[in-house]
Amino acid sequence: MTHPKLTLVDHPLVQHKLSLMRDARTPGPDFRRLLREISLLLTYEAARDLALKTQTITTPLTEMDAPMLAGADPVVVSILRAGNGLLDGVLDVIPTAKVGFVGLYRDEETLRPVQYYCKLPPDLSGRLVIAVDPMLATGNSSAAAVALLKDAGATDICLICLLAAPEGVACMAREHPDVRIVTASVDSHLNEKGYIVPGLGDAGDRIFGTV
Ligand code: URA
Repeated sequence: MTHPKLTLVDHPLVQHKLSLMRDARTPGPDFRRLLREISLLLTYEAARDLALKTQTITTPLTEMDAPMLAGADPVVVSILRAGNGLLDGVLDVIPTAKVGFVGLYRDEETLRPVQYYCKLPPDLSGRLVIAVDPMLATGNSSAAAVALLKDAGATDICLICLLAAPEGVACMAREHPDVRIVTASVDSHLNEKGYIVPGLGDAGDRIFGTV
């Protein structure tokens, strides 16, 4: 099953950087930098539908009606802990975004998400809420985080993930067909331990050096 609102970013820069990240020999500092760079490029797609208004400005040559972002600042929500690896890339391109955090860990036996932290900006309704989690594996954590964002009032949610498994995409299609997904790849499958194959291993461990 696919997802009605999935955008696969097959831009050569994204694909090249992703391949470098997949390589098990890539050192942690490079891995982090590449993730931030890809995040920036995926955010470009996630923010594609942001509303614009015109504002009169004066260039060195003349006055013009210039397009400017309209409406409330977007919100970026990091799904801890690996989501933090994508956070700075989003803020690089949307510096006015407000930031929230959702803490979920995956029970390694049931593969189900358990919430341990939630801090969100107020007034999520009517503004773009970008949830970030590098790995859409089973989809359980992302689906739970998105449900929490909806409960908190979010109406326009986009999930940015570096990699997705078909299982995670199907989970999001079942539970949240209205939520856009922006990803750099839909990989082959999940293995018996819930890892994405070919994947890149444990994203959190590689970002934070806890391997
Ligand atoms: N989480 C990860 O960090 N990697 C996977 O492959 C799956 C879930």
